[in-house]
Amino acid sequence: MANSTQPIGVFDSGIGGLSVLAHLRELAPQEHLLYFADQAHVPYGLRTVAEIRAFSTGITRYLLAQGAKIVVVACNTASAAALGHLRETFPEVTFVGMEPAVKPAAMSTSSGVVGVLATPATFASPRYASLMARFAGDVRVLEDPCVGLVPLIEAGEVDTNDTAVLLRAVLQPMLFQGADTLVLGCTHYPFVRPLIEQIAREEAPGVVHIIDPAPAVARQTLRVLEQQGLLAKQVQEGKTRLVTSGEADRLEAQVARLLDQQVEATAVVWEDSGLRYP
Ligand code: DGL
Repeated sequence: MANSTQPIGVFDSGIGGLSVLAHLRELAPQEHLLYFADQAHVPYGLRTVAEIRAFSTGITRYLLAQGAKIVVVACNTASAAALGHLRETFPEVTFVGMEPAVKPAAMSTSSGVVGVLATPATFASPRYASLMARFAGDVRVLEDPCVGLVPLIEAGEVDTNDTAVLLRAVLQPMLFQGADTLVLGCTHYPFVRPLIEQIAREEAPGVVHIIDPAPAVARQTLRVLEQQGLLAKQVQEGKTRLVTSGEADRLEAQVARLLDQQVEATAVVWEDSGLRYP
């Protein structure tokens, strides 16, 4: 049985889910947070459903073995490919997943044109198709899989010329066709939000509204924990632990740069049987 002192487990293919982690930390300073970045396998967006399910299952096992009281799938791609599978495999565990914010975008657009930025695997999923069928009936949705953007963000290129060129090629056609609302359908993309805003200012005549679901996912996680009586009650500040299947030094440097925080990271290794614990 989970208890309130245990950490909130959060995972992503890489650093994208840090955009959710940052909101959790801000909203719930007393919670212990355990973040897993599968940097040995990033990007997930070009992988098969079977691969994404296998990685997500291995990571969930690891987070549970480390005492996670809930698992936040802070990755649209892993949620699209593996959330149902995870819920079936671990029926006793509570998962919070995410999906591109098509519904809020459809509700808030004035032009009736919405741009969705996600990954190829997210767009290819039945979960996304169902989202579109339910909420996008009255709006025109323009999609772009932003191929190459996640590796640039992982490489720290959040404000370089290469990233600006890639983003401009994605955004220009959307804005030209009248998109007034852009959905960040991958947790890596909030880290290039300033660049997206800058391009939108330069390319679009009116105000462009950007939707990042990370704050809502953090709030939803805390709501679920509250319903289950699992919110941390301690008054001291919670600890953040970072784990990567890549290089610990690199993740520490990325977190220092993106979140302006010094947090120690641990590296773990994938083996055939799953993750080898430190
Ligand atoms: N951050 C992820 C998402 O939200 C996955 C990106 C990737 O690994 O391709 O979709």
